[in-house]
Amino acid sequence: MSTVSPPPVVPAPEQTALAAIQALESEYLLQTYARYPLVLDRGKGCYVFDPSGKRYLDFITGIGVNALGHAHPRLTKVIREQAGRLLHTSNLYYHAYQGPLAERLAKASGLHRTFFCNSGAESMEGALKMARAHGHKINPEKFEVVALHNSFHGRTLGALSITGQEKYRRDFEPLLPGARFVPPNDEVALEQIVSERTAGIVIEIIQGEGGIFPMSIEYLRKARQLADRYDALLVFDEIQCGVGRVGKHFAYQLVDPIVLPDIMVAAKPLACGIPLGVIVANDRAAQSIGSGMHGSTFGGGPLACRVAIEFMDILDELLPHIHEMGCYFRAKLEELQKQFPFIREVRGQGLIIGVDLSFPGKQLVLDAIEQGLLMNCTHDTVLRFLPPYIATEKEIDRAVSILKRVFKMAAKRGDAN
Ligand SMILES: Cc1ncc(COP(=O)(O)O)c(C=O)c1O
Repeated sequence: MSTVSPPPVVPAPEQTALAAIQALESEYLLQTYARYPLVLDRGKGCYVFDPSGKRYLDFITGIGVNALGHAHPRLTKVIREQAGRLLHTSNLYYHAYQGPLAERLAKASGLHRTFFCNSGAESMEGALKMARAHGHKINPEKFEVVALHNSFHGRTLGALSITGQEKYRRDFEPLLPGARFVPPNDEVALEQIVSERTAGIVIEIIQGEGGIFPMSIEYLRKARQLADRYDALLVFDEIQCGVGRVGKHFAYQLVDPIVLPDIMVAAKPLACGIPLGVIVANDRAAQSIGSGMHGSTFGGGPLACRVAIEFMDILDELLPHIHEMGCYFRAKLEELQKQFPFIREVRGQGLIIGVDLSFPGKQLVLDAIEQGLLMNCTHDTVLRFLPPYIATEKEIDRAVSILKRVFKMAAKRGDAN
């Protein structure tokens, strides 16, 4: 019998050196990502650490995924327990966690039925299939999906077909037929394009990748009205702005009275780093998809579902805190705006916030890394913040003081000129 020694718990220094990692990746990985020059080694609370032990305040959280920061004790405990018990079942069998999580999602969302998958794009694919199947039952010509300019719904072909940004789409044309784009927050344009041929209308309540642009209440109401008038499914993409990010379970709950979609898709923070996506639908939408029409090998495994249930428990208590910290952070950023005229606008709700600059923000992101703060830049000029829900005034003050330093450096360099 051969004995295999276990792998080292701590990687050797030569394996974690940035240059060595870059060299290996540039040789063996598809070159799809423009990464920042930083190796992450571990995390604790609102901070991540590089291999040398330097710490960084994590205000981007893996693009909105690490909602409870890093190594949260309750999540770590559940992950450990479940990893030693049962990791994967496939959907051939039952396990104890899909039902209770679906029940939690139904109660939190006001929508009744859930399908589990593994990512944002995958949940959008499923929602598109539901819209298509819904239309198909009524009339084969009813297959159009109305989506918004500047939107982002994922990288798979279906999700890309309704993503309203040319730069993501152009290399893959022709995409799915039937996508119709309209400008966001333009009720007249929406009214003109929605018709008997419309199977679905897809909206991000706050466009994330597009630069943190919220939809107006009137616009959401109009979308609901038109979906009802033409028997189309209204789909809200809550992948970035949902699951607590705005201080409500879902961003559509900011509208009073609530505008309910027929389908809501969510992913990122749901299992706090274990891949999990969901399609949550009302009964009308759920009827569009029957046995054998959709599926996923990995979707809704016991590990992801159990972690998500634990997260939902913690989230319920955190919602008022997220709202409060969002107001605090925005107020601080608005103070910075008064000091730095190149800040055009501060936008967002809760802990999804964008700071729109009058020049490209990439250098500021690099400067912030140097100074120990992680954020990113989207839509060229928008610094995007998706802080962990556990951030307190202390972390926000620290982020703001680093940002102030970074803005001063930009002012000195004359980045805005
Ligand atoms: C609003 C929105 N929809 C869909 C997606 C795609 O999600 P994923 O990267 O998990 O496929 C994203 C990812 O950033 C997103 O922000």
